[in-house]
Amino acid sequence: MLVRALGLAALVFGALVWTGRAQYLGAHFVSGFVVAAAVFVLAVIALTKSRVIPGILGVLFAVLLPVVGLKQLPLTFHALGAIQLAHIVLALAVIGVAESLFAAIRRPR
Ligand code: HEM
Repeated sequence: MLVRALGLAALVFGALVWTGRAQYLGAHFVSGFVVAAAVFVLAVIALTKSRVIPGILGVLFAVLLPVVGLKQLPLTFHALGAIQLAHIVLALAVIGVAESLFAAIRRPR
């Protein structure tokens, strides 16, 4: 699935940025924003199918991920404060949210 593959790519690029390789920030942003956009689209589809709880959760996570991600700028490298931890938790959770959205959309009424 797209979110799984791009989420994994974002995870690897994010770890590379964090370890000081700022040249991977662009690739991290692209993969990260596509993940957020995909979750947003899945959430809207879920809402149109009256899957309200997963739909709202999806919109929330799709918005929070880039907002919290960009809050980490300017880059500090190797820092692991509250904002970095929040970003990792959100980033991992968003993949789970995508999986549950997918399941909710496919489930017959
Ligand atoms: C629009 C979405 C995203 C934005 C704007 C964003 C932004 C950032 C930034 C600026 C950093 C560097 C932090 C630092 O070096 O101090 C970072 C690191 C990282 N990102 Fe993202 N990110 C996004 C999505 C994702 C996604 C989807 C994943 C994984 C599924 C992810 C995983 C990570 C990891 C593991 C790190 C390294 C640890 C850390 O500093 O938190 N990010 N991200």
